[in-house]
Amino acid sequence: MGSSRVSRSFVQELLSQIDIVDIISHYLTLKQSGRNFVALCPFHPEKTPSFVVSPEKQIFKCFGCGVGGNAITFVQQYENLSFFEAVKRVAEIAGVELPREAFEEDSSAVQIEEAGLQAAKYFHSHLSRVENYLSQRGVSRETAEKFLIGYAPPGYLRDLKLKSETLVQLGLKSSKGKEFFRERLIIPIFNHSGKVVAFAGRALKEGQEPKYINSPESSLFKKNSTLYGFYQSKEFILKERKAVIVEGYFDVISLYQAGIYGAVAPMGTSLTENHVKFLRRYTSSPVLLFDGDSAGRKATIRSAGLFYSFGCEPLVVQLPDGEDPDSMARKSPEVLRELLSSPVPFLEWAVKTVKSLPSVEQPELLKQVALAVAGLKEVNPFLFKEYLSRLSAEFGIDEAWLRSQLPRFRKREEVSLQEEPIPVYEKAFLRALLDGLELPIDVSPNIFVSQKVSKLYSIISQTGERDATALQSLYPEVSPLISDVLFMEISEEELRRYVCRVLAKELERRVRRTSDISEKVELKKLIFELKKGNLEIVEQLQTIN
Ligand code: UTP
Ligand code: MN
Repeated sequence: MGSSRVSRSFVQELLSQIDIVDIISHYLTLKQSGRNFVALCPFHPEKTPSFVVSPEKQIFKCFGCGVGGNAITFVQQYENLSFFEAVKRVAEIAGVELPREAFEEDSSAVQIEEAGLQAAKYFHSHLSRVENYLSQRGVSRETAEKFLIGYAPPGYLRDLKLKSETLVQLGLKSSKGKEFFRERLIIPIFNHSGKVVAFAGRALKEGQEPKYINSPESSLFKKNSTLYGFYQSKEFILKERKAVIVEGYFDVISLYQAGIYGAVAPMGTSLTENHVKFLRRYTSSPVLLFDGDSAGRKATIRSAGLFYSFGCEPLVVQLPDGEDPDSMARKSPEVLRELLSSPVPFLEWAVKTVKSLPSVEQPELLKQVALAVAGLKEVNPFLFKEYLSRLSAEFGIDEAWLRSQLPRFRKREEVSLQEEPIPVYEKAFLRALLDGLELPIDVSPNIFVSQKVSKLYSIISQTGERDATALQSLYPEVSPLISDVLFMEISEEELRRYVCRVLAKELERRVRRTSDISEKVELKKLIFELKKGNLEIVEQLQTIN
């Protein structure tokens, strides 16, 4: 029983046998408040309780810091355990026995890795289907081979002849058998030791959304510590002690093709602490190479702060506005190579960059820079002092004042990160999906105002998974949102109205995209009906898909 996976049916079974109130009471003092229980939140400092447990729904949520989940994820977070360990712990607390059958046959790591490589080679054997696309993007045959780029033809699941469980682990298949990566360009994700543990699939056709699909996390694939491109550049990074941080898969690929080695990218998320901890083993002055726009500047500052807090001295290469590393590597590899040969220390870049902005935009960015510098405070107080003095001198700001403002800046930052308001109709829409609503038409993840909703919706539509518990365990990053959604008190009538509203938004998107006048008219009629809350027209909707 050396496996570390536990079957889903057992998790369901366990959750149905226990009471979240008992489990959490094991750790916190809960006080009844109406239908719920409340406590001081263990995940953030507070004086009045905003941590709520619902016995009816068997979930918890903190309305202060936003964490949420079920009994298992509570224990997982509270004790900082893996999901598997948390399941064991909950069973122990509740006195439920763990039957042998609870543990799935472990398709061992080696098996999955072999299957990963086999699948990557199979996709790669269909490379001819993306030859045009790649040549338009300037990717050579040689590069495609180096990165084992491929294509996923329809029916790939059948062709692969792999165990269903393995395909699910690799993220190539949903438990319902959906082919996630169908008709996409395939980029295999090699882990740092060169095993294929996941895949990214890029859209090839107009309207294919989202642009990239990534395998979900698995026992072998952790997004917050994997860096794409590390394996291909490993020797270079070890020898030269240099690494270049970029944002996307194609940035890594194009740089490599241009003979610029050492580029690594996170897995479709921002850089994490784990990435930084890993990289600092290889280099003490990583180079940040992000897009030359405002989003790129923000990412640079944020990443620099992370590197500072681990004692590194980040360097920066600024690209012209409108360029990304991929476009630069293709259009002017010489210029890019030149730029990379003389990266500037972050602080120097920051001062220059802030000064180049219109004066109204300066304070906000300066604040971010000061926060990044504050990352040094613990690991290198002398350097922290020196950099702070420099910042205050450059901008004519009193140093003591600047220092005194840092905690405030940080607070504001945390609040603004947390409080992205989510429109109620978007939450209601998710609720309907979790309750099992079958959508009459495909809805684009891009119509949502909230990034978080868009993310959760993409996961649901890609995986076909509707079970809240399963989603919360597989995708911890959306767990708080799910609790939030399940906590909503909402009538059937309201739910229906809000779903109609989202469907109407989708149709509005389609109106904008079509140039066919009669189609526009038809869609507008449907939108009118939907806005009245008339879900009966759903049948008509099915015909337009
Ligand atoms: P970009 O949208 O900037 O993509 O996303 P890119 O690398 O320039 O892509 P191309 O050049 O158009 O192909 C940057 C990174 O964010 C992640 C991917 O890791 C991508 O490389 N991403 C982006 C996703 O995970 N999903 C998406 O839908 C889009
Ligand atoms: Mn790009």
